[in-house]
Amino acid sequence: MSVFQAVRLTDRVYWVGAIDWALRDFHGYSTSRGSTYNAYLIMSDRITLVDTVKRPFFDEMMQRISSVADPSDIDIIVSNHSEMDHSGSLPETVRAVGPSRVIASPMGCKALSAHFHWEADTVEAMGTGDSIDLGGMNLRFIETRMLHWPDSMVSYLPEGKLLFSQDGFGMHLASTERFDDQLPRDLLEAEARKYYANILMPYSPLVRGLIANLKKMDLDIDLLCPDHGPVWRSGIQWIMEKWAYWAEGRPAPRAVVIYDTMWGSTRSMAEAVAEGLAGEGVSTRVLPLRATHISDIASEVLESSAIVVGSPTVNGRIFPSVAECMNYLGGLRPAGMIGAAFGSYGWSGEAVKELNGLLEGMKVRLVGDGLRTLYVPDGAALMEAVELGGSVGRELNGMLKGEG
Ligand code: FEO
Repeated sequence: MSVFQAVRLTDRVYWVGAIDWALRDFHGYSTSRGSTYNAYLIMSDRITLVDTVKRPFFDEMMQRISSVADPSDIDIIVSNHSEMDHSGSLPETVRAVGPSRVIASPMGCKALSAHFHWEADTVEAMGTGDSIDLGGMNLRFIETRMLHWPDSMVSYLPEGKLLFSQDGFGMHLASTERFDDQLPRDLLEAEARKYYANILMPYSPLVRGLIANLKKMDLDIDLLCPDHGPVWRSGIQWIMEKWAYWAEGRPAPRAVVIYDTMWGSTRSMAEAVAEGLAGEGVSTRVLPLRATHISDIASEVLESSAIVVGSPTVNGRIFPSVAECMNYLGGLRPAGMIGAAFGSYGWSGEAVKELNGLLEGMKVRLVGDGLRTLYVPDGAALMEAVELGGSVGRELNGMLKGEG
């Protein structure tokens, strides 16, 4: 009897992944609730393993597989995504199992080859529209390039109505519960939003295409099986609608004020800016960089339409934490935002100008030239900060009216 058991999803399909309770940093993304690496075992005549797990979790996966099948009976391994959290234990699994076929997308073959330096014919390529006979069941493949790697694809099992969606519709959340309807919906929403913001936001136009394509294909899906977090059973429509909403980036009456501070002056300005925004009816989150991880900031930015950033000037530059945040957000490419910059300075005061340039580089439409305050803001300077927030709020309300 092994410690780790497979979890039955349908008569013929089992979850055989791993739970990473201790994960707190996923290549820079803060994972305060851990994660799972999901692998799925299809008990067809030709037993098929869909995806594997991060390398340190190989034994856990093998124990779960062994609870329902002899691993050496696995005939086919499918790699839907070559990122190491799903392929890290693939070489060890291939050695242990000796499958007759290893399958990936055409780009997946290249990626796996570049990761593991395999011979070119080790992995068999399957593209959109291809399918394989598992013996009494079929697995169909649909490439989802750049969602979120070039190799990404999903697999559909019509018998059983399961879509194995690799990172798609996933989240970093460790739990003993395997189905979405066993967990609180607000928890799922928070973690799914954070996942989308940090992993998918730059590819939102492609997500829109994927959602449209899935609708067009009209796949009958009873279980949506991502590679992280719970399997969607009751909330399939809900999570797809959430993804469609996040991908669309429609204007919303929400703003973020992001800042760091040296002696509290830029902080005072940040809080005054937020008052100005709130005064215009804009729901505003003030996000101090000393207290907020950049991946949580990304999550707030995803559902906001205004971004106001504050930094003191340090040695003629913006503060290092602000630079890191702007670099990260710039890569995530939030779309359709308006914004502004502010900050306290002592003598040269370059930060606001630098921030304006960075915001414009992110295609954020600036509202005004920004606001600088010499050393410590007095009452009048703080009222200027309130007015900066107010002007951004009014602009945002105008956008929303235009939308309506
Ligand atoms: Fe979960 Fe892109 O790997």
